[in-house]
Amino acid sequence: MERRTFLVRMTGFIMGLIGLILSIPLVGYVISPAFRRHPQDWAETGSPDELTVGIPRELSYVVTLNDGWLKTTATKSVWAVRQPDGAVTVFSPLCTHLGCGYHWDSADLTFKCPCHGSIYNINGKVLAGPAPRPLDRLPVKVDNGRLFVIYKEFRAGTPRQIEL
Ligand code: FES
Repeated sequence: MERRTFLVRMTGFIMGLIGLILSIPLVGYVISPAFRRHPQDWAETGSPDELTVGIPRELSYVVTLNDGWLKTTATKSVWAVRQPDGAVTVFSPLCTHLGCGYHWDSADLTFKCPCHGSIYNINGKVLAGPAPRPLDRLPVKVDNGRLFVIYKEFRAGTPRQIEL
């Protein structure tokens, strides 16, 4: 190999290497949001005074989601139950069997899932059907007379609650 050819190739190799090293932080910056976990914020869902003891109510609200590079808004809903002591329990709206939405049956006083027939009592306990665990409870707090919830999703079909 001629000296000139060698120098041209070495220069190209060194330039390529420098470019590669400089691009590592840039690539990391670009792809890291896709792997970063974005904790949800507290979302206001209304006033706890609108809830009646023993009558679950589906609450809908808008949340802002950070998904990778995308910031979107979505409407979420949860089931809220006011307890006799005034505390509020909030359930994920997804059946723990395979994630279908369930509803409150005011005649039977149970939550019923239309997909495969799981039935839960007002405290989320499984009464019948294939559901492997009770309804998933969500973090809830009352601040300044307003009810706040953190929306979370969990793996369906497992006896143990595993957050996604
Ligand atoms: S998804 Fe609810 S019972 Fe199967």
